[in-house]
Amino acid sequence: MLKYFIVLTSLLGCSLSFAQLPLTAEQGKELYDNNCQTCHGEDMVNPGTVSYDLRKFPADSKSRFLESVSNGKNGMPSWKTVLSRDDMERLWLYVMTRGR
Ligand code: HEC
Repeated sequence: MLKYFIVLTSLLGCSLSFAQLPLTAEQGKELYDNNCQTCHGEDMVNPGTVSYDLRKFPADSKSRFLESVSNGKNGMPSWKTVLSRDDMERLWLYVMTRGR
């Protein structure tokens, strides 16, 4: 019985670290540089266009972030066919660094 327990917990521990490891703000920055920078500016510094200043995006509105990025908003295209859900989570982590 104890043996099974040890096998189970080590399996769980393994898959947990797998699930969490890939999500970092650095990966979010890379995605940002490739997909978002043209409109939202280098390091999220708004280039003075109509696009939203992402450094001011409210930190308590993650669901709004995911919704707007997935489905697009006015001048912004939808990203759901381009980016995975995990990629959007990475972008969220990057946006929350406020470019610092
Ligand atoms: C083609 C230009 C363009 C690109 C590329 C672009 N955006 Fe946008 N984005 C906009 C514009 C314009 C707005 C303002 C939309 C509005 O509120 O009218 C906006 C708004 C937003 C908002 C605010 C939405 C809200 O709820 O108010 C977020 C978050 C956002 N963009 C994230 C991203 C992310 C992340 C990427 C890269 C995956 C990205 N954008 C790429 C043009 C762009």
